[in-house]
Parts: sequence; structure tokens; C-alpha cells
Amino acid sequence: MAGVRPLRYLARMTDGVANAKRVAAFAAADLVESGMCVGLGTGSTFAFVIERLAERMRDEGLELSGVPTSEATAKLAKAAGIPLRDLDAVERLDLAIDGADEVDPQKNLIKGGGGAHLRERIVASAAPELVVIVDDQKLVDVLGAKFLLPVEVVPLGWRHTARRLAATGCEPKRREQNGGPVLSDNGNLLLDCKYDGITDPTALARELDSLVGVVDHGLFVGMAGRIVVGNSAGDVRLIP
Ligand code: 5RP
Repeated sequence: MAGVRPLRYLARMTDGVANAKRVAAFAAADLVESGMCVGLGTGSTFAFVIERLAERMRDEGLELSGVPTSEATAKLAKAAGIPLRDLDAVERLDLAIDGADEVDPQKNLIKGGGGAHLRERIVASAAPELVVIVDDQKLVDVLGAKFLLPVEVVPLGWRHTARRLAATGCEPKRREQNGGPVLSDNGNLLLDCKYDGITDPTALARELDSLVGVVDHGLFVGMAGRIVVGNSAGDVRLIP
């Protein structure tokens, strides 16, 4: 692929996908410089960023602070000794790093597999760049052909919101766990929407933005900066 710089990182795990996530995360964590305030994403890939940042704080004396995108990340970061700040206590972030569920050739994303996409969007919007970390299986030609699009909706009247969503060409399903609805950190419901491929993410994002009852959706259009892609062999490439 044109414009892609190959890097090589040492493979440290045997599990293929976990290894791919880990090498991408480690490469992105190495972009952080001392003194930075960093937007801290959410998910299993991002957990490896925290691991690497903690390692660098210990080994190199790296100093940073972070703004978490979820309660889960706040807990992990605190345990790793990363100082946390409230978003409103900082003027701007220096960088945001986060995972994604799918990435298309235009660097549009589906996010929200962990249900944190609202906070992820807000935090990423406060940074000059959102660096996205993925394993290579998440690179797709068309978004939404495999992965369901997460949509966060207000609990009040959610069945009506689901019908409005269905009218955009999907089958929405309420996310559930242990027989009950999953709530986001914001106390809202998550509807996972099955589209038959999202051929025009810009138009769909605009349509979803206008729906009553929708708080936010997982389509991140034109927001991604560099994409750091890892594979199971431990190779990392950067899509600029
Ligand atoms: C959470 C997200 C995650 O970044 C996305 O779901 C990727 O998760 P993972 O790194 O566990 O595959 O958007 O809301």
C-alpha cells in the first residue's frame, strides 16, 4: 500500500490476535512524549497501551497525564500509576490514542464495541490527532458488512428510537448481558445495528446524528489520524 511505512516490533505473545493488538498498541504508546496529556481510549487493544506507558514511566521516567474515555480505562490507568485529569480541567489534549472495530480504506471507523464511543468521540475531538490502533483483521473494504454498528440511545422511548433506526436500513438489537440491558457509562442503552454494508458512511452518520433519541453512534468519519496496524507475526505498519 502506498505511503505505508513498515516497522518491526518484537512479538511477545503467542496468541495471534492479541499479539497483533499488542504490537500496534506498543508502537502507538511509543509516540507519547514526556509532558503530554493523552486521551486514553477503551478496549482490549488500548489496555496494551497502558501496559507500555507504565513500562516507559518506570524505565525511562516518562511523565504524562491522561484523560480516560471510560470508567474501565480510568481504573486500569490508575492501577498503572498514570495520573488522570478531567477533560474540562485541560485546555486541549496533545494526542488521543484509541482502538476501533473496523477501519475502511478512507480511514473511517466503526467504534463502540465496548460501548464507550460517546466519550471516545468527545475526548478525541479535544486532541489534534486521534491515533487508531488495530490488528490487521479489522481493515475492511466496506464498514458494517460484518461488524454491528453500536448506537447509544436514551432509555426513554428506546423502542421508538429503534424503529427510527430501522428506517435507516438496519436491524437494531438491544445489547444485553446476563438477561438484562447493558448500560453505557452515561446510563444509556446500546443498540447494535446490522447493516448490509455501509457504503456511504458520511451520509449515514449525518442521518443518525439527526435522529431523536440517538445520543451518539459508532461511525467515526474523517476523525482518524494515523492508523497503526499490527499483525500476528509482530509486524507493525503505519497508515499515515
Ligand atoms: C470501545 C471501542 C474500542 O476501541 C473498540 O471496540 C475496539 O476494541 P478492542 O480493542 O477490544 O478490539 O470503540 O468503545
